Amino acid sequence: MIRRRSLVLGGLAVAAAAAAGGGGLLYLRTKGGKPLIKIGGPFALSDVDGRTVTDRDLLGKPTLIYFGFTYCPEICPTTLTDIGQWLDRLGPKADRLNVIFITLDPERDTGPQIKRYLANFDPRIRGLTGSVEAVAAAAKAYRIYYRKVPLEAGEYTIDHSTAVYLFDKRGEFVAPIGYGSAPDRAVEQLTALLG
Ligand code: NI
Repeated sequence: MIRRRSLVLGGLAVAAAAAAGGGGLLYLRTKGGKPLIKIGGPFALSDVDGRTVTDRDLLGKPTLIYFGFTYCPEICPTTLTDIGQWLDRLGPKADRLNVIFITLDPERDTGPQIKRYLANFDPRIRGLTGSVEAVAAAAKAYRIYYRKVPLEAGEYTIDHSTAVYLFDKRGEFVAPIGYGSAPDRAVEQLTALLG
């Protein structure tokens, strides 16, 4: 769910959209629509076949990015299923969108592991992984919160931000789609993004 309201911050009128479940991040914009918080930035990761992919490779097309991990019990599979349904509803237009899944668990999510996992979802979703440091740098650039939570027997899970982020073809942040967003609203946002 996304709530919008106007507020005055330091004499500056801004519109704030708070995405529930998005790690508590406030998406503040100036009246001109420029985000006050920079979301997105340089990254260098690898696709499931080991080829390098950087933020620059995404330019020229609008982009949807979601951070998660393949061992996620619920949020990630639900979100990736939702994304597939949005893409289906967009029809051929969806081919003009980069759809990126970035793991927050590079130790377990190798290229082959992500490839096997993504076979359960829409084939247009591209998976990226990298070293622990490269993933941490990407997550930081995209303001993604995540934390390893120990489980029994040396296992762990990862607590993480759940929002899907949309960027225009120049790589500028446009809007989040909150977890559990109404499908009609998500498709409307993607349709607007694709122009
Ligand atoms: Ni998850």
